[in-house]
Amino acid sequence: MVDLDALRGKYLANIAAAADEAALEEIRLAALGKKGEISLMMRELGGMAPEARQAAGARLNVLKDEIDAALRARKAGMADAALDARLAAEWLDVTLPGRPRRVGSIHPVSQVMDEVTAIFADMGFAVAEGPQVESDFFNFDALNIAPEHPARQEHDTFFMARAADDPRPPHVLRTHTSPVQIRAMQAQGAPIRVIAPGRVYRMDMDQTHAPMFHQIEGLAIGRDISMANLKWTLEEFFSAFFETKVRTRFRASHFPFTEPSAEVDIQCSWVNGQLRIGEGDGWLEVLGSGMVHPKVLASAGVDPEQWQGFAFGIGIDRLAMLKYGIPDLRAFFESDLRWLRHYGFAAGDVPTVHGGLSR
Ligand code: DAH
Repeated sequence: MVDLDALRGKYLANIAAAADEAALEEIRLAALGKKGEISLMMRELGGMAPEARQAAGARLNVLKDEIDAALRARKAGMADAALDARLAAEWLDVTLPGRPRRVGSIHPVSQVMDEVTAIFADMGFAVAEGPQVESDFFNFDALNIAPEHPARQEHDTFFMARAADDPRPPHVLRTHTSPVQIRAMQAQGAPIRVIAPGRVYRMDMDQTHAPMFHQIEGLAIGRDISMANLKWTLEEFFSAFFETKVRTRFRASHFPFTEPSAEVDIQCSWVNGQLRIGEGDGWLEVLGSGMVHPKVLASAGVDPEQWQGFAFGIGIDRLAMLKYGIPDLRAFFESDLRWLRHYGFAAGDVPTVHGGLSR
């Protein structure tokens, strides 16, 4: 019989040197497989004399178990090593400080637009929109502001370029949201109840004026809508917006697109240099309004014999300053991150009438 010690030595060395599990399997087949070296030797036992067979059989079994055990041990060792390697590679230092996630904020103007929109939506006003580059017709003519009307100068209009030989009046950056009244009535006819929030532009710049600012236009047209409805609507609005009962004062005024026209003040007081809305006997002008002029209805295709109603225009930036105590209008549009973080609002915290409007 072959030298079993030499066989043992060979297989144990091969097992120790195997590079991977596939190599181990090859060794197993070569030794213990059906046609493996050890298996064949076991088969040869049958031809031996009983005593020799018993001795050889026992030694072969011992060798077989030894190789088998060595294979298993090596295989387990490989799995452990693989796991160790994986653990080392996928190691994660959970004590590292997290990467800061910068969170943006909602600009006070957007916040106040949402607040105002929520209040008027609750009163049945839909949102209407119009372009910021507006035609001369919608911005002026249709609103009863004739070409020679002084209001055109007062509006400090930005004009778009036109070819020198183009006889048509140039488009303008809309000077107010009032042209959306015309567009909305043309599109929907009467009755109608809309608000139109948006950007407007005038050539003006100081502590309380910016060349771009924001307005919300309101329009309600029906069979018998009156100034009384306007007053109720505005008082309701301001009380909801400032979350305290706010009285209004109507002062006779003039706008080409309303007759009669009124400027509206809200009740306020100054206490130790601090403005309080809705108390005291001071007044603060906040908007222009009136009954929509018959000519304006007609130019929007609404029959003034059948329909009437009110309109108003509010400066949003002013409202934001008043409600949230922001002193300088220009800072609104300077994109200073410190300012935005200080005065901004949490994203996703959307104002609603039922969820609360103030932050
Ligand atoms: N469009 C006016 C402005 O920008 C504001 C205004 C006044 C709007 C009276 C109206 C209104 O709808 O009825 O100064």
